[in-house]
Amino acid sequence: MDKIVVKGGNTLSGEVKISSAKNSVLPIIAASLLSSDKCIINNAPMLEDVFVISDVLRSVSADIDIDNTRNKIVIDTSSICDCEPCGELVRKLRASFLIMGPMISRYGKFKISLPGGCNIGTRPIDLHLKGFNALGADISVGHGYVEAKAKKLVGNNIYLDFPSVGATENIMMAAVMAEGETTIENCAEEPEIVDLSNFLNSMGANIIGAGSDTIRIIGVKELKGTNHIPIYDRIEAGTFMIAAAITKSRFKINGVNEQHLKPIIAKLTEMGVEIKVHGESMIVDGTGDLIPIDIKTMPYPGFPTDMQAQMMGLLCSIKGTSVITETIFENRFMHAVEMKRMGANIKIDGRSAVVEGVKRLTGCQVKSTDLRAGAALVLCGLVADGVTEVTDVYHIDRGYVNIEEKLKNLGANIYRVCG
Ligand code: UD1
Repeated sequence: MDKIVVKGGNTLSGEVKISSAKNSVLPIIAASLLSSDKCIINNAPMLEDVFVISDVLRSVSADIDIDNTRNKIVIDTSSICDCEPCGELVRKLRASFLIMGPMISRYGKFKISLPGGCNIGTRPIDLHLKGFNALGADISVGHGYVEAKAKKLVGNNIYLDFPSVGATENIMMAAVMAEGETTIENCAEEPEIVDLSNFLNSMGANIIGAGSDTIRIIGVKELKGTNHIPIYDRIEAGTFMIAAAITKSRFKINGVNEQHLKPIIAKLTEMGVEIKVHGESMIVDGTGDLIPIDIKTMPYPGFPTDMQAQMMGLLCSIKGTSVITETIFENRFMHAVEMKRMGANIKIDGRSAVVEGVKRLTGCQVKSTDLRAGAALVLCGLVADGVTEVTDVYHIDRGYVNIEEKLKNLGANIYRVCG
């Protein structure tokens, strides 16, 4: 298994380019199932999760060509003849569930293995299924599978108990070709929802209101192929913003959308980080004195749960007390145990973590417990005394394109050991 080795203490400088958003590309690949024409994704991030969801589609006979020199994905689903994707692949990636919506919409059925355990909580799919049911699908769950059948889908008003990102996306995709009109209230407002809506509308869908708490979908008869460039990855950008703050460095990040980064910019600014945005680039200056802050993760436009671990890493090295409250996932503090091995002073109490900044973190071997946790440990390694070895790097590879190369180009002493 690969590991990333970091020798802490270097100041970073120069420029880094952000890739397209993993959480946009995954639903967009799934949405390509909605048309028998080809869909082309340009500037796609070459990530493990992208390869896995592509394999899930290949397991139902989709033809997917991934050109990793040109970051281009061509998806041709014209020969799909099966609605039961390979269970082993589905269990590898929770986002595989995003194919449920397109399948029930285009083929009127699916059978998919239930999700396995997840490191950051139980993550049920009840809201997705309630949505399909409201559109007229019969759902049955048993023997480790969820199965759905529908003669036809008919638009309905759907109120989500929680603004789930995945449920909003799945219901949108299920409703695009349903008869009549669907509204999804209390839906997720994440930028990735807007990107998916733009993709679907460019296929010929009629979706209004993505990015607000109510989405209206007027069903259309069929969708056609399209070309799309996904939005920049706001979580990757946020991770590099924290890299500047934690190493007390100043560097430029290219490929950002200021609007999408507002909650992260607000919190880092409150700490004393100077951030200047010019179009799609920003200069992040973490050279000043930083102060502790409190963070509460919330659905967008609140502070993203996907930035909680990286922010905890930063707060571990800031003098004073910070409190982090995680409201989205019930078990998302696994990284705290690893950070404590590096000398961090963190106390967990239910959904809150009290972080007392320490003078220095010390390098040691630590384990990525999930994708963002792994990135956070790499960030801690950048400032720790001595050498930090981050193991189980496959988690990081799920969502960061060449993280060690990008950090190395900024001046970090970092390398990967393949094994
Ligand atoms: C997406 C992101 C993930 C991010 C998360 C929250 C993708 C591929 N992944 O995940 O990176 O951390 O949003 O911003 O886009 N819930 C239910 N029932 C459901 C669905 C969700 O109770 O049917 C709960 C979950 O257990 C969780 C909360 O809702 O506590 C948020 O989950 P959700 O927004 O659905 O996250 P994902 O779409 O899985």
